[in-house]
Amino acid sequence: MADTAVDRWRALVLARREQMDAQLAQLGGPPDDWWAGRAPSFSRSIGDLRQAPGWGLPQVVDRLERTDTVLDIGAGAGRYAVPLARVTGHVTLVEPSAAMAGEARAAFARAGLANYTLVERTWPGPRVTPATAVLMANVLGPVLEIEQFLGRAVAAAERWVCIVHGSALDMGRAVERVVLAFHGAARVRQPGLADLIPVLHELGMQPELAMGERRFGRVYADAREAARDVAATALVEQTPAALRRVQRIIAGELEAQPDGRVALAAQRVPVGLLTWRVRGAR
Ligand SMILES: C[S@@+](CC[C@H](N)C(=O)[O-])C[C@H]1O[C@@H](n2cnc3c(N)ncnc32)[C@H](O)[C@@H]1O
Repeated sequence: MADTAVDRWRALVLARREQMDAQLAQLGGPPDDWWAGRAPSFSRSIGDLRQAPGWGLPQVVDRLERTDTVLDIGAGAGRYAVPLARVTGHVTLVEPSAAMAGEARAAFARAGLANYTLVERTWPGPRVTPATAVLMANVLGPVLEIEQFLGRAVAAAERWVCIVHGSALDMGRAVERVVLAFHGAARVRQPGLADLIPVLHELGMQPELAMGERRFGRVYADAREAARDVAATALVEQTPAALRRVQRIIAGELEAQPDGRVALAAQRVPVGLLTWRVRGAR
């Protein structure tokens, strides 16, 4: 019986993990690094870090001084870490995926910044120096041991804890339809904002919440490329027959673009920036 918010969170993460592991088993088992092969397209999708800052970044920057430090847990390709390194003294990135860590290193090199440390480990494993602010952006969704994860993060914060968390959609209706057709059941959703807020409340963490919206849209060279991407997200083996079937299923979801490419309709989901001062901080 899941009777606390933490239990409910864990139940969702476990159910999703078990479901996806069973589907991945048909594809030869889970990959060692989930982001291997996905990291470059993730990097491209976050775009130019100066033109398109991560959601909530300006509000995080507002809380920081030039000499402050940041611990970015689940830093990915550096969407937040790179711009934060421009305006603070030092950023420590915790990132277990070698593929994502490589993207982050490349982003720092492109930005000409060296005031960062990259810890290629899984949180809450590594010992780290406490930082002025601890950031967890778009990382909590698959975390099973949410209480330990958050507890260790808060312990590493000298002044601020900042969380960016949205309600992820696994790329929306096209993927949902393909998952249903091939696997016979809808994919269990990731815990969203509405699951996180009661968890924080239960753990005695009382953030301020700023709400926004995130849009996910994908554009492809043609319908075949769209089918391959949707099949990969839906964890469908990419045989020629399966790809033809995926293409038929998603045909009605694809919109022709003026430049001849095709797009899946953009999904709009709520996202929140949750911030609070740690106890005893000035
Ligand atoms: C969706 S990406 C978000 C990256 C970045 N924070 C952003 O918003 O662009 C999630 C990242 O969290 C990392 N991650 C997943 N579980 C983690 C854990 N237990 N500890 C640290 N990082 C983790 C993944 O490897 C991935 O790079």
